[in-house]
Amino acid sequence: MSAAHDIRIFDDPQRLFQGAAEEFASQATAAVRSRGRFTVALSGGSTPRSLYSLLAQNRSLPWDKIYFFFGDERHVPPDSPESNYRMVRESLLSKVPSPAANVFRIPAENPEASEAAKAYEQTLRQFFNMPAKEFPRFDLVLLGMGPDGHTASLFPGTSALQEGSRWVVSNWVDKFKTDRITLTLPVLNNAAVVMFLVSGQDKASPLKHVIEGKESGELYPSKLIQLVDGELIWMVDRAAAAQLAPAA
Ligand code: 6PG
Repeated sequence: MSAAHDIRIFDDPQRLFQGAAEEFASQATAAVRSRGRFTVALSGGSTPRSLYSLLAQNRSLPWDKIYFFFGDERHVPPDSPESNYRMVRESLLSKVPSPAANVFRIPAENPEASEAAKAYEQTLRQFFNMPAKEFPRFDLVLLGMGPDGHTASLFPGTSALQEGSRWVVSNWVDKFKTDRITLTLPVLNNAAVVMFLVSGQDKASPLKHVIEGKESGELYPSKLIQLVDGELIWMVDRAAAAQLAPAA
């Protein structure tokens, strides 16, 4: 990445999650004030659980005007311990007055991951009501970054990295011997704001490659998050930022 980045380094994970919760609340409040709604695609994994738990304590957010989507999902039922939806339901949705109609889960219980992807794309097309050739514009996309530089379910060397027209695809991840369902790069890169949340020393090396490295995005897919017309914010803790060059 050559463009200057908005990299916010927090001393420890707690301050990172607090900062991310404040940014989320600020984005949500501004969006609802100006457009009457806030559309957010949530990330999965384990890091964001602490952020979602903090958000669940915020009683002043306009929960009835926030619309929740998912950036990706494992190919499992919603009650599986692996399910991103289950993690979000347990840490956030079960604790806030968010109408069920405002939550759009990826139907990953479908035995055919490609069918789940098609169904989710239809759900998105109905909600965003876009012309066929355009991509939806989420107000906010939360993303994490794996130790291999993947984000959402866009893993190194996988076919989803090449997708240029569909909004949602299934993606075979050979190292896990499983399918995933994921939003595609054109959708992610069309967001108004993407906020990465990266914590821990195991992310220091991939983060350096993503932010400063010259390798291709095929190797470090988080590098492929390059917004068309939006704001990319890296929210990282000091452990994850340990190998980054000192800010100029
Ligand atoms: C998932 C996530 C995935 C996650 C990264 C980082 O389904 O696992 O969507 O992209 O963000 O794997 O996960 P952690 O931040 O928990 O390490």
